[in-house]
Amino acid sequence: MEEMRLQKFLAHAGVASRRMAENYIKQGRVAVNNKIVTDMGVVVKNTDKITVDGNLVECKEEKIYIMLHKPTGYVSTARDQFGRQTVLDLVTDINCRLYPVGRLDYDTSGLIILSNDGDFTYRLTHPKHEIKKVYEALISGVPQKNEIKMFEKGLKIEDYITSPAKIHIKNVIGNNALVHITIHEGKNRQVRKMCEAIGHNVLTLKRISIGPIALGDLPEGKWRKLTASELKSLY
Ligand code: URA
Repeated sequence: MEEMRLQKFLAHAGVASRRMAENYIKQGRVAVNNKIVTDMGVVVKNTDKITVDGNLVECKEEKIYIMLHKPTGYVSTARDQFGRQTVLDLVTDINCRLYPVGRLDYDTSGLIILSNDGDFTYRLTHPKHEIKKVYEALISGVPQKNEIKMFEKGLKIEDYITSPAKIHIKNVIGNNALVHITIHEGKNRQVRKMCEAIGHNVLTLKRISIGPIALGDLPEGKWRKLTASELKSLY
């Protein structure tokens, strides 16, 4: 193993995302050669003994990348303080710890990627990469031209101005509209808040793509490994 910074090593080993690994280090949970390390600059090599909470960390080489069609009624964190079902409950037959790459709300369905590669997670979720995400939403009412303009220009949601986004009406169903929404950010409940800001409530929400990866016809609750070309396209 090449020499690398401790947080990168922990991410490579699948212990946590790089950001979460930094928290572990700050919290004094990580030791190198039996010495607790809280300094972010430490570089480690393959002869070092690294532990988290006293447990030895070994750098597993096999990296796993999967996509899951999340149903509503599941949280997308690895653990839930209220004991609700998590997306990991849907991924059986995989023998290693996976972490969701980004989040979907409990009441949102659709595409979520999971991996044990903390570096990959870090890159995919870092705001500077601005990966495009497309959502299909059923919203109350039908957005008018001026509302669509506001949506696309950027909206104030709480203390934040959203980056330009897109909303495209696919279908009008009774008093409601089925729309496709494209955003490049990932603020908490962002799509719901943006729709509310132009006067339309989100009735159902489903993520249908992340960058070049499309949910396609993967059935709800099912998962599959990303293909080599899908993985390549993400990089
Ligand atoms: N925006 C939302 O409002 N919810 C999600 O789950 C994802 C994006």
